[in-house]
Amino acid sequence: MSTAHRRILVTSALPYANGPIHIGHLVEYLQTDIWVRFQKLRGHECHYVCADDAHGTPIMLRAEQEGIAPEELIRRIGGEHQADFAAFGVAFDNYHSTHSPENRAIATLIYERLRDAGHITRRSIHQAFDPVKQMFLPDRFIKGTCPRCGAGDQYGDNCEACGATYAPTDLVDPRSVLTGVAPEQRESEHLFFRLGNFESMLKEWLASSDLQPGVVNKLQEWFEAGLQDWDISRDAPYFGFEIPDAPGKYFYVWLDAPIGYFASFRHLCDRTGIDFDSFCAADSTTEMYHFIGKDITYFHTLFWPAMLKGAGFRIPSNVFVHGFLTVDGQKMSKSRGTFITARTYLDHLHPEYLRYYFAAKLGAGIDDIDLNLEDFQHRVNADLVGKVVNIASRCAGFVTRNFAGALAARGDDPALVSALQAAGAGIAQAYEAREFGRAMREIMALADRVNQYIDHRKPWVLAKQEDAASELHAVCSTGIELFRLLMIYLKPVLPFMAREAEEFLDCGELRWNDHQTLLGAHVVKPFKPLLNRIDPAKVTAMIEDSRSAPPAPATKTSSAPTAASSAAKPASDVADTPAQISIEEFGKIDLRVARIAAANAVEGADKLVQLTLDLGTETRQVFAGIKAAYAPEALVGKHVVMVANLAPRKMRFGVSEGMVLAASGDGPGIFLISPEAGAEAGMRVK
Ligand code: MSP
Ligand code: ZN
Repeated sequence: MSTAHRRILVTSALPYANGPIHIGHLVEYLQTDIWVRFQKLRGHECHYVCADDAHGTPIMLRAEQEGIAPEELIRRIGGEHQADFAAFGVAFDNYHSTHSPENRAIATLIYERLRDAGHITRRSIHQAFDPVKQMFLPDRFIKGTCPRCGAGDQYGDNCEACGATYAPTDLVDPRSVLTGVAPEQRESEHLFFRLGNFESMLKEWLASSDLQPGVVNKLQEWFEAGLQDWDISRDAPYFGFEIPDAPGKYFYVWLDAPIGYFASFRHLCDRTGIDFDSFCAADSTTEMYHFIGKDITYFHTLFWPAMLKGAGFRIPSNVFVHGFLTVDGQKMSKSRGTFITARTYLDHLHPEYLRYYFAAKLGAGIDDIDLNLEDFQHRVNADLVGKVVNIASRCAGFVTRNFAGALAARGDDPALVSALQAAGAGIAQAYEAREFGRAMREIMALADRVNQYIDHRKPWVLAKQEDAASELHAVCSTGIELFRLLMIYLKPVLPFMAREAEEFLDCGELRWNDHQTLLGAHVVKPFKPLLNRIDPAKVTAMIEDSRSAPPAPATKTSSAPTAASSAAKPASDVADTPAQISIEEFGKIDLRVARIAAANAVEGADKLVQLTLDLGTETRQVFAGIKAAYAPEALVGKHVVMVANLAPRKMRFGVSEGMVLAASGDGPGIFLISPEAGAEAGMRVK
């Protein structure tokens, strides 16, 4: 594999231009960067392109909020993104924007080819419309009361309290997030991509490419559910590209986003003379890989290959899907201080700590990966500082002081040296297969052997013996040769440290195949410490800073396509964990036992039950979203627990004067909370 010359085009997903890069994103950019660096180190032609995803409603509205043009917002955020990536050593060959002439040209071309081949259809649909703001509302811009559990302030596509998914029209008392008014239903003509036309092509692709097992399963589910037409248009006002033959309609952000991969590559080709067609034309023999997170699989394994095929381009060789980052086992969260932006991290810690840690945790699968902050410090200190850097620092001083930096022409322990050289093939295989964790384990096992060798030969003892100079020279020179081999293997993960090691070794730029040779008689430069241990105080300070940083804006637009809303749900990056409350705050909640005196179905709301609750001294009317689990007549006489001092809420059907407590999980069940027999209406619950 190392001999045949490969030509490879690689992408990472395009980050939205309305929020900062955070450590969750970095899982992907670092994973991709390590893989690309490995390919380049091996001598292959590999082009790594990315761009900012600049279109869509959230970006338009954010710019409006800041009182600036969207172009200005995306320029500023694009600059911040690029600075963050550079600081983490993510080495794109080109970084562009979807709001670019290249992208407009290719998006238009792809659309026109799809249309001319009969893959686009038009029809009118009804959609929520904000009459004050005069615009159609994406699902995420409508909030209301969950039809299932009755929780207030829930988004139009799913409930964060009970996990229900639904259409915005199911919400009780829906409101526009922008103006607070009730949205109207309005009709408008939309353009649809006929995904179903590509079913057999997609099935063939599934069978012939080497997709990850988890991805294959998802695809099969989606095939079984049936491939639906995909709405690719949005009405003005919208920040995007106007559709050539549909004035006032714009391409949906997700149509031109993946096309941004090609646009960025086109921009690179125009700059450097690479032949675009040899990578992108239908008959291309080159490789093309997209690294993405699991939340956007649907777009990359169905829509994108189908669009490419339908427009006469090549399809991806593979799509490499990774899982989501958790911190200490939980979703990143602002209140816990674990929603850590790239910038905040860099204010406190060296980027290579994280590069190494993610590498150590990453495999080829789509499981989530956890950043455990204790383990992070321990692993980095033990492996990088304690094992790898330690080898050089134990040997370099003697070489500099006792031998003027000259290494011995003949080393020591040839068996150990060849063992390290022979390990290169297996490590390369692990990198190629994106089994970075395995590569790191193998490298650290080798580092252990080198340290044992040094422990055993004790250069610090040899240095004190009169007649051991040549032995000391051989041992320390061997240590440095072995350090060099380890640095070659680690170079994809640790580009900054590798750079400094190359300076110390004075050996020019190391390539993968250099592991087959040794330095031999060669003069090295004085050694400078390569990396320090992680200072725990800095980790604490980083968490503190993350807690107090201004709230991160939502970085996701509503990305769930209609056909697979639960499978391709947009995962919001910030967990909505309830903040901790004091006992005093808890005491403010007036929980009471209530007897259900009457229960009636609500005309026009198929999930709601209207309850009349007897509190002993008074009665209350409460609307509860429990009809799916309880027939109204079966509820009468039951004792339940209610929040008695909840501010009354005006709903479409009347005023709700409290809330009843019920349990629910991911499944469909709803379970009312009832006191043991004997409790009486009006009793306090604490
Ligand atoms: N703009 C779209 C992608 C368009 S690609 C044609 C998007 N942007 S994003 O900024 O929300 O995410 C960019 C990438 O980062 C996605 O692949 C996403 O899965 C990944 N991640 C975002 N948050 C993540 C974690 N918390 N953990 C791991 N990856 C995460 O989606
Ligand atoms: Zn709910």
